[in-house]
Amino acid sequence: MKLEETIAKLKKEKNALILAHNYQNPDVQDIADYTGDSLELSRIAAKNDADIIVFCGVHFMAESAFILSPQKKVILPDSSAGCPMADMADVDSILEMKKKYPEAAIVTYINSSAAVKAASDICVTSSNAVSIVNKLNEETILFVPDKNLAHYVQRFTNKKIIPWDGFCPTHEKFTKEDLIAIKNQLPDAYVMVHPECRQEVIDLADNTLSTGQMVNYISHIYHKQIIVGTEKGMLHKLKKISPEKEFILASPDFICPNMKKISLEKILHALINEEPIVSVQEDIRVKALQSLQRMLELS
Ligand code: 13P
Ligand code: SF4
Repeated sequence: MKLEETIAKLKKEKNALILAHNYQNPDVQDIADYTGDSLELSRIAAKNDADIIVFCGVHFMAESAFILSPQKKVILPDSSAGCPMADMADVDSILEMKKKYPEAAIVTYINSSAAVKAASDICVTSSNAVSIVNKLNEETILFVPDKNLAHYVQRFTNKKIIPWDGFCPTHEKFTKEDLIAIKNQLPDAYVMVHPECRQEVIDLADNTLSTGQMVNYISHIYHKQIIVGTEKGMLHKLKKISPEKEFILASPDFICPNMKKISLEKILHALINEEPIVSVQEDIRVKALQSLQRMLELS
């Protein structure tokens, strides 16, 4: 039996659901029940009545799914698939910053650990960060951990945004010079980039969109060629939706090594052994849930 068929059979027997982030390898996206951005996938995990969630993404995403639905067994097929940006924020430093800016709301990107979410006032994703910040009562926002998303949000609010010093290494690597070079090669192409990109890149792009927003916006773009400034896996998803368009990765370096750790073999192993499990200590989970629920209510 082919690997894909064995996975499908086991999934059915165990009442498991396979979720894959838009950055996953094409073969992983193709066997998933749902693909999407971090927020969409957590929402699906919470609503679905599966007993097991196999989360093909990185650790904070599986953790968010567990925080929202702790009665389910949440499995991350490679336990070492982390997010370096999420690791750039820790609770002690946040509490220190809280002392320095007692009037500020702590707004935390979903790309963060459960403990950091628990120490925050509210979570955001790249698709709802601007609207949520504008809905808060506080006029000062400590934005954790992505400085690029923080600066991006600052463009759309009069509030004072204090950026944390974190970043995504995959997006940060892409520079203005890289974008100019590919734009020169493809002068008629539309350019869309993720808000985790540098500000100098965002300044030159036609549009800045989260991965979920890219999927929703694609039908409004009439250009034949589209330069995509985010992780490579996104191209597979976009090509499936709009096969008539040509999607060009903005740089061959747009690869998140952690996202690429998940494979069909590891998914099969995870389904057979029902591990590696992701869970969160209950007192932290309850506090982190408040930050996530507040986000879901406001978005
Ligand atoms: P999205 O929420 O846009 O899917 O982004 C997640 C992520 O990790 C981006 O690097
Ligand atoms: Fe983290 Fe960047 Fe990978 Fe997204 S692309 S999971 S932010 S390292």
